[in-house]
Amino acid sequence: MSASDTNRIFNLAVEVVKENDRGTYTVPTKGLYPFQWNWDSCLTAIGQAYFDEDRAWTEMETLFEHQWPDGMVPHIIFHVYDDGYFPGPDVWNTNRPTPTSGITQPPVAGFALRRLFERSKDRAAAERRARALLPKIEKWSDWFYANRDPKGEGLVAILHPWEAGRDNSIDWDEAFERVPTDGIAPYTRRDTQHADPSHRPTKEQYDRYLWLVEHFRDLNWDNSKLHDASPFQVVDPGFNAILIRSGADLAAVAEALGETEMAARNRARAEKSLAALERLWSDEYGQYLCLDRTTGELVKSASIGGLMAVFAAIPAERAASIAKIITRQAETLRYIVASHDPADPRFEGKRYWRGPVWLIVNYMIQDGLRAAGQTDLADRVLQNSLELIEQSGFAEYYDPQTGEPCGGGRFTWTAAMVLEFLALSGRL
Ligand code: DGY
Repeated sequence: MSASDTNRIFNLAVEVVKENDRGTYTVPTKGLYPFQWNWDSCLTAIGQAYFDEDRAWTEMETLFEHQWPDGMVPHIIFHVYDDGYFPGPDVWNTNRPTPTSGITQPPVAGFALRRLFERSKDRAAAERRARALLPKIEKWSDWFYANRDPKGEGLVAILHPWEAGRDNSIDWDEAFERVPTDGIAPYTRRDTQHADPSHRPTKEQYDRYLWLVEHFRDLNWDNSKLHDASPFQVVDPGFNAILIRSGADLAAVAEALGETEMAARNRARAEKSLAALERLWSDEYGQYLCLDRTTGELVKSASIGGLMAVFAAIPAERAASIAKIITRQAETLRYIVASHDPADPRFEGKRYWRGPVWLIVNYMIQDGLRAAGQTDLADRVLQNSLELIEQSGFAEYYDPQTGEPCGGGRFTWTAAMVLEFLALSGRL
């Protein structure tokens, strides 16, 4: 890639992020997702820091202004009314000053905080702003372990597929069978008006998504009740790896700011959870798997959730096994890393989280591989991701076989990750 290519891609990525900027928060893409989404925002901030550090901090601060009193940080903040999205605030009915959804999302905030903090050029501002965010991020972690790990096992469950961010992953198929659909209010989907329906979750899945929302709403979004009352409780290795990594990164920032007790607390918790993650390892699959907490069984589904575990400091031999799986994928796929094992008959290359490549996942995987010493493969994932956006632009996700752009277009976090990839490859 020449210097002028780098410049051109940098400018295009900045243009996408700016076009979705609503002043104090950024929408994932206009039309399909017109509000602030939790993990989108934190990952977006990492990209924003390359051209506007102040704005990057604001992105995270806005998100945490809407943290619930119990510590949860919701997955959507409905800042401005927009009927182009379903389910909107009237369906969630969470009774917050600014309406929000009632579930959460992968907690990348601790990781993003460290990234912003360590790279910042304005040290004084970074220290001040990081110091203010630290207790909020810690409170969110406390919330997870108190509400989603009631037996203190060190692993937290998601109660809704939207919490994992991997909405229609094959991982949930079996557990989802236990979620009923009777009695849900009639509804009209809006997502399929913005994106190709064959790239999106099915109607049966939507019915179940909504049943869970209505069930939790009937319990007044009381987080002390939801875990045990949910027919869907899944321990996702990717989600837990993100929580562990964020805890360790939060501890590192706390240490740097002289908050030694906070650092020690969060480090200890991350270590306990890292040890607990081993419960999700499968020798048969050579990767981590989801655990269905209602049955106590590992879920036989080789998805990206198990590969994302490399984002936490897992043992070197586990990282090597994950590297082998990704290398094998690269023999048959033009673009890696697929969100599901392409050899599985349930794989669908264009349908959301049942096969497509997502740049944010590639970013976390290459970061983890690099930390585990799998540098060649980390570089390969990075280069392959840049080739993908050269071919297909800043889409929401891509078909790993053809590179076809799928879902929403001009996607913020895809563009933010491209800025990171350019920087990591030494091009910025
Ligand atoms: C959606 O609406 O598709 C989101 O993924 C849920 O947050």
